[in-house]
Amino acid sequence: MIYSRIAGTGSYLPPKVMKNEDFAKRLETSDAWIRERTGIAQRHIAEESQASSDLAMHASRLAMQAAQVNEADIDLIIVATSTPDFVFPSTACLLQAKLGITGCAAFDIQAVCTGFVYALATADKFIKSGQHKCALVVGAEVFSRILDWNDRGTCVLFGDGAGAVVLRASETPGIHSSVLRADGRHAGMLSVPGNVNRGQITGSPFLQMIGNQVFKFAVKVLDEVGREALVAAGAGIGDVDWLIPHQANSRILDATARKLGLPPEKVVMTVDHHGNTSAASIPLALDEYVRAGKILAGHRLLLEGVGGGFTWGAVYATF
Ligand code: UT7
Repeated sequence: MIYSRIAGTGSYLPPKVMKNEDFAKRLETSDAWIRERTGIAQRHIAEESQASSDLAMHASRLAMQAAQVNEADIDLIIVATSTPDFVFPSTACLLQAKLGITGCAAFDIQAVCTGFVYALATADKFIKSGQHKCALVVGAEVFSRILDWNDRGTCVLFGDGAGAVVLRASETPGIHSSVLRADGRHAGMLSVPGNVNRGQITGSPFLQMIGNQVFKFAVKVLDEVGREALVAAGAGIGDVDWLIPHQANSRILDATARKLGLPPEKVVMTVDHHGNTSAASIPLALDEYVRAGKILAGHRLLLEGVGGGFTWGAVYATF
């Protein structure tokens, strides 16, 4: 049996930091409200010159270094993003060129904040098929570009960044199980309902969200899908060393951990200093905890995402 295993992680945050106080200067909001309702204190914002593929390139190089693989070893690139550089070509193809890799399969996955979980589960299946041996799986976003900076209900929540893992074929797992779900009936709860049409934008190019509905939905499905992934692996909640949820809101993370019956010290939390970086949030959080020496080889991880679509999913893996 072939399994896949995370061999290295990397991440990148653009240097510019935006604090809550920066919003309070322009909008009717406050540092206290944002911290209390979301747990967020600051987020990183990409320079105008930086696109998702640039953030992805930095994160990927670090992941490849950590995994001790070179360009010729990579035979699959999957980028999860909702803020691609262009309509096409895919950000994965642009990343491939920036990394100096040629020939391997490269494509994007669009599952919004669940994107990295979808990408990891997809790469796992490609590797299990035996046709691919070494995948670069990336979440990269410049959400600052799709925010209405006058909408206090959304613009304070998001940030930019990228995270990456190298996933290699292995005789031992690695990834034990993955569960992916979607329900398009909830498309209107979180969307950027715009389109490029004959040189014009039709609809809206800005993120829209019914925040309190998303909140309730997220807590419900993160609990359900986490349990499903554990059952699929023949594991229980006692077999989780770290819960790595999509970093949307500290209150969502607290409520999810409580429902799952996990103590706060097992929950990876980076939303306070990253904000919500959509598909990048899970690999960014993973890499931060790995580099801090908190997540160690052999630790059992439950990765969980939820986002627009609606989409949600979980991966249970031994690091
Ligand atoms: O990645 C997945 C996507 N996103 C999420 O997971 C986000 C999920 N939702 C949330 O995190 C929360 O719903 C929010 C943080 C967005 C909002 O918190 P809430 O406790 O659900 O507040 P609310 O939307 O029910 O709004 C409460 C009040 C409203 O004022 P009124 O109508 O009661 O007068 C809002 O206008 O808070 C107001 N409000 C703000 N006030 C100060 C909304 N945003 C702000 C703000 N500063 N930035």
